Amino acid sequence: MQLEGARVLLTGATGGIGLAIAERLAAHGASLLLTARGEDSLQRAAATLAARGATVEVVAADLGTAAGIERVALAAERFGADVLVNNAGTNVFGMLEQLGSPDVGQILRTNLEGPVQLVHRLLPQLLSRRRAMIVNVGSSFGSIGFAGFAVYCASKFGLRGFTEALRRELADGPVRACYVAPRAVETSFNPPEVVRMNADLGNRADPPEAVAAAVERAIIGERRETYLGQPEGFFARLNGLLPGVVDGALRKKLAIIKRHAAA
Ligand SMILES: NC(=O)c1ccc[n+]([C@@H]2O[C@H](COP(=O)([O-])OP(=O)(O)OC[C@H]3O[C@@H](n4cnc5c(N)ncnc54)[C@H](OP(=O)(O)O)[C@@H]3O)[C@@H](O)[C@H]2O)c1
Repeated sequence: MQLEGARVLLTGATGGIGLAIAERLAAHGASLLLTARGEDSLQRAAATLAARGATVEVVAADLGTAAGIERVALAAERFGADVLVNNAGTNVFGMLEQLGSPDVGQILRTNLEGPVQLVHRLLPQLLSRRRAMIVNVGSSFGSIGFAGFAVYCASKFGLRGFTEALRRELADGPVRACYVAPRAVETSFNPPEVVRMNADLGNRADPPEAVAAAVERAIIGERRETYLGQPEGFFARLNGLLPGVVDGALRKKLAIIKRHAAA
C-alpha cells in the first residue's frame, strides 16, 4: 500500500517508537492522526512534525477505557483513516507475584483489549476503503514466554494471535493485517533494571528508527509479519517448534532475571 496520501491513525505516538514511526510515515507523504493520553506531549509532537510540512491532527485518549476507544474511533472516522498502527503499549517489569492487580489489568487492557476494540470499532470504515492496513506492534515476547514479563507476554501473544486470525479472516477483502515484532528497543519503555538485565544477558537493543523502518516496509510491502533482530527472530520460530529447548536455555538465565526483578 502506498504511503503517499495514506491517512494513518497512530497510537502510542508520543513514545520512543511512536515518534520515530510518525516521522518516518510523514516523511513518505502520509497524513497522521496521533493519539496517546498526554495532551502536552501530543501537541509537541504535532508541532515538530507540522514544522517539517506534515499534515497532523491529535486526539488525547486512554486506550485502556471504552470512552477512550470511542473518542479515538470518532476522530479516526472524521479523519478518514485507512491505516491503523496499534503501537501504544505498557509494561511493569517483575515476577508475577511482584505485580499488583491494577498492573495486570492495565497491561492487558492497553496492549491487548485496546487494540482489539479499536480494530473492531474501525473495521467497517477500513473495509469501505479500496485498500487499508492494520499494523499491530507486538514484541519478540509475543512469541517467547520470558520470566519477569508474564503478563506482558500474555498480552503480546494475544495480539499476535489476534493479528494472525484477523489476517486470515480478512484475506478476501481490501484490508491487510500485519504484525511487527521488535526485540528490545532503546526507549524509556524499559526501566534501568531492564536495561541492566539486558546488558547482563547479552540481549541487544535496536534504535526506535529501526522499528519505524520495519513498519514502513510492512505497510508498503503489505507484509504479514516482521521480526526484528537475530537471534531473537530465530528463537521466536524455534520456541514454536521446540519449546523445551528454549525452556532449557532460559532456565540458565532465571537467576539473573530474578536478581534484576528484585531490584
Ligand atoms: N521499547 C521496547 O523495548 C519494545 C520492545 C518490543 C516491543 N515494544 C512495543 O512497542 C510499542 C511502543 O513502545 P515504546 O518503546 O515506544 O514505549 P514508550 O516510549 O513507553 O511509549 C508508549 C506510548 O504509548 C502511550 N500509551 C501508554 N499507555 C497508554 C494508554 N493506556 N492509552 C493510550 N496511550 C498509551 C504512551 O503515551 P501516554 O503515556 O501519554 O499515554 C506513549 O505514547 C509498545 O507496544 C511496546 O510494547 C517495545
